Amino acid sequence: MNKLLQSDLSEFESLLEKVKSQGLDYINTIDDRPTSSHQKIPETLGLDKQGLGGRKTLQLFNERFEPLIVSSSGPRFWGYVIGGSTPASIMGDWLASIYDQNPQAIKGTGDISANIELETIQLILDLFDLPKSYVGGFVTGATMSNFTCLAVARQWIGKTAGKDFAKEGITEKIPVLTATPHSSAIKSLALLGMGSNNIVKIKTIEGHKEAISIDDLEAQIKKLNGRPFILISSAGTVNTVDFDDFKAIKKLKETYNFWWHTDAAFGGFAACSNTHKHFLEDWDYSDSITLDCHKWLNVPYESAVFLVKEEHRLLQTESFQNSNAPYLGDPLENFNYLNFLPENSRRLKALPAWFSLRAYGKEGYTSIVENSIGLAQYFGKKIEESHDFKLLAPVRLNNIVFNLKRKPNQNVLDAFLNQLNGSGKVFMTPTFYHDEKAIRASFVNWRTTEKDVDLVCEEMQRIINAI
Ligand SMILES: Cc1ncc(COP(=O)(O)O)c(C=O)c1O
Repeated sequence: MNKLLQSDLSEFESLLEKVKSQGLDYINTIDDRPTSSHQKIPETLGLDKQGLGGRKTLQLFNERFEPLIVSSSGPRFWGYVIGGSTPASIMGDWLASIYDQNPQAIKGTGDISANIELETIQLILDLFDLPKSYVGGFVTGATMSNFTCLAVARQWIGKTAGKDFAKEGITEKIPVLTATPHSSAIKSLALLGMGSNNIVKIKTIEGHKEAISIDDLEAQIKKLNGRPFILISSAGTVNTVDFDDFKAIKKLKETYNFWWHTDAAFGGFAACSNTHKHFLEDWDYSDSITLDCHKWLNVPYESAVFLVKEEHRLLQTESFQNSNAPYLGDPLENFNYLNFLPENSRRLKALPAWFSLRAYGKEGYTSIVENSIGLAQYFGKKIEESHDFKLLAPVRLNNIVFNLKRKPNQNVLDAFLNQLNGSGKVFMTPTFYHDEKAIRASFVNWRTTEKDVDLVCEEMQRIINAI
């Protein structure tokens, strides 16, 4: 064995202790650590011939890169849609690295850790009150979940014309109807060869601005003259968390032949809230659903789930099995994740989610989700009452989109957001809302409190007064 590996092995316990204590320092100061870094980015270093061993490597990391680490899992990182990591999810994440399994098979000899993933999917279905008729698995994020679901949708479209697109490639343009898809769904269409320009954009409901107009949807469906198509619906648009009308879509599905995919990356968590779950009524008729775990489930990156109705299992294996795979029969009888998702090898991504779901249960997640919703309403009210800021859409769930009252405001808005994010007290994301620049704040982190909102509002006021 290499000498440095040998000495790290003999010092393993003390190395892990060092990392644990450094991790705890980060966690214990996460509220105060800045949300942005002004540190100089170090120059790239080449590979050492000999290597440094674990202890000196940690030192080098601390000198060069640790100062760049921001409090992105802390209570005031409101940009994108970013969760933190619950204590139990970190326990599961550490063990996922230590055990280093590659979950594929569920029986036989060798690694059968995929059983943990299958159980975690059942916990997810329980959390969201979804039927057991979905087969699910873990991928890196909602982008890959959208990709996975749309790959099966693509195969379904092929089959309606007697073709096997996975084997033959796409031979015709596939109609994809959608109103306000997340950019990652469009990226998935590009990756799948369906073309990001090929979507049929459906109008949105007057007044709602982001939810699909069912009237226009039906009008566009009629224009297809019975051709099967894919519908991408939104359970929570990223800006204003608008929900498509799933009850109406379910009705359309009784008349028209289409694959219904729902991107519920974070909006699906409305299912955990007694006051907001009505947004999701009938979403369980979707053929496929995207859910992100590194958002509101508050587990570490990279974690998301795809759910595809079990009746489509053959289409799913046709899409994902390796080309040299033997005939599989019923893919559920010989279940192997290898044949159900894009990657062959993966880490045990389900373990952090399994730990967190077991540790906090339905009540724990209801309290996280309702806390975030309450904070979004609190922040929204403060924006509404302010002389300087204006809400651009009602607070439906957990995201706020706002702008400045003063006009013209576009350059001032940039300056304001730069200063706000530069303060390190909070991080928010620039966005566009109906062709206007705007700012988005998203509440999903389990640690955030009203005190954080108050602190941010004071900082916002200080900065806008000075501009
Ligand atoms: C609705 C929706 N879908 C998909 C995504 C992409 O998620 P990820 O970054 O996990 O790939 C996001 C990210 O914010 C989202 O809000």
